[in-house]
Amino acid sequence: MSGFRVGEDGFELDGRPVRLLSGALHYFRVHEAQWGHRLAMLRAMGLNCVETYVPWNVHEPRPGAFHDVEAVGRFLDAAHAAGLWAIVRPGPYICAEWDNGGLPSWLTGELGARVRTRDARYLAHVERWFARLLPQVVARQHDRGGPVVLVQVENEYGSYGSDQVYLRALTELLRGRGVTAELCTSDGPEDHMLTGGSVPGVLATVNFGSRAREGFDVLRRHRPGGPLMCMEFWCGWFDHWGAEHAVREPGDAAGALREILECGASVNLYMAHGGTNFAGWAGANRDGGALHDGALQPDVTSYDYDAPVDERGLPTAKFRLFREVLAGYADGPLPEPPPAPPVLRAPAVGRLDEWAPLAAVAARLGGPEAEHAVPPTFEELGVDRGLVRYSFTLPGPRGPYPLTVPGLRDRAVVYVDGVRAGVLSEDSPALPVPVPGGARVELWVESLGRVNYGPRLGEAKGLTGGVLHERQYVHGVRAVGVPLGAFDAAGSVPCAGGGGQGRAGLYRGVVEVAGAGDAVLSLPGWTRGFVWVNGFCVGRYWEVGPQRGLFVPGPVLREGANAVWVLEVEGVEGPAEVRLR
Ligand code: GLA
Repeated sequence: MSGFRVGEDGFELDGRPVRLLSGALHYFRVHEAQWGHRLAMLRAMGLNCVETYVPWNVHEPRPGAFHDVEAVGRFLDAAHAAGLWAIVRPGPYICAEWDNGGLPSWLTGELGARVRTRDARYLAHVERWFARLLPQVVARQHDRGGPVVLVQVENEYGSYGSDQVYLRALTELLRGRGVTAELCTSDGPEDHMLTGGSVPGVLATVNFGSRAREGFDVLRRHRPGGPLMCMEFWCGWFDHWGAEHAVREPGDAAGALREILECGASVNLYMAHGGTNFAGWAGANRDGGALHDGALQPDVTSYDYDAPVDERGLPTAKFRLFREVLAGYADGPLPEPPPAPPVLRAPAVGRLDEWAPLAAVAARLGGPEAEHAVPPTFEELGVDRGLVRYSFTLPGPRGPYPLTVPGLRDRAVVYVDGVRAGVLSEDSPALPVPVPGGARVELWVESLGRVNYGPRLGEAKGLTGGVLHERQYVHGVRAVGVPLGAFDAAGSVPCAGGGGQGRAGLYRGVVEVAGAGDAVLSLPGWTRGFVWVNGFCVGRYWEVGPQRGLFVPGPVLREGANAVWVLEVEGVEGPAEVRLR
């Protein structure tokens, strides 16, 4: 048999046994001008394949409105040029520490728990999306001279789902739209996961971070023959805001990789290079065991993942150890790593003296403001990432009562009669001081990232449980959405020159740079918000850590003056300065 295929004992290329030595690298987490460098790093580590997910929510921001789907094809072309095969995981759900697991928030807003099932309305949306996406993949399949050797159906579907009708429909959809490459599923090595997530006749793979032999034994109970593959070998891990930084010891990870390869298996390193959650696309988990009924755990901006190629694209100790292991499985000598991308030559500081209050930002960049019987969710307002301002006047006359927002997601800065009164969160949804009737209340509510994993996937953002004065609901709530995407035009918000004196709002200024290159931007004294450099959103910052600086890809910076915008949602202590190093 010619071509790349699933054989009796393993993968075959033109009838000869072949092993996939793959690494995950998500094109949407790396600046396009740096794809080539990162792909060359994967080759130099000893990999012969790259794997990427495709995030539906990035490419279909509104139903039927598509954004740069061609990026998928350009990335696959770059992989081909780098001499790598490619695995594509188009979801539609991708998990991936990505907002809503890659599902558009308009979709989960409309369909709730019907997503990822046989539901006809859901499948119709998937069909329309795949009709746009799949031509990018189909034209670049191995049997057409391209790099794509494997396409994944769904993602760890068996962790929570068991709708075999859905999985079969998805498989038929891929085949019907011209996918001739081998298909696979990927699941945890547990009996219920493999029965729920596998499709008869489609290669099943497993995901784990260690104990390869045990994991493959479980897989073999379900699939006595065919290739063994670990589709996600977790060689690092991700971080949550306000929690410890995750580290996986390099020697331990290299040992686990060796064990996988000694089993005769193929592997995909998750992640080979993690990159960055630019533009507020980071997702979130929920604590609390199987039911996930605990606290929201939002993911940080960096997706460094403690991966062998770090966020800046540099080789780590893990890279060198993995390279030694992988060299034993290579056809010939491994290429040397490419030269590192240029870094910023000298540190730079910029004072952000232009300022506009949040109200002016909402007036210029927000959607239409309307009054609602009960507060609408972000989904109802069409806000994927960003802020919503809710405002109302409390009924009266009446004395001061507690003000509570029981279904708050995720965080609200509250102003009473124009004066800041507190910051509310899911854990503390009540204002510390009671509020009298007749008071004018404003809540600036922020999404910290949608849940991407578990039964709370797709839950709405905003005020989802109303507003209570004492125990009485407040009605006639005005709401205006300020989506992050609208900040492309943040240069047009009218700003005053004298600075913001530490208040929340939009800060703008210029940083002069000599010797542009990759840099890290830090914001001493700032609390939480987003940063744009020359209009490119480098992501969310938050003083709670563990992430301290934001990665700024060199191609975003220019020699001389660079425009920096910061949306600060709480306040700044000290001079409104940003630093690049
Ligand atoms: C699972 C998912 C991935 C990712 C990892 C954790 O395996 O399939 O998308 O979320 O967990 O990083």
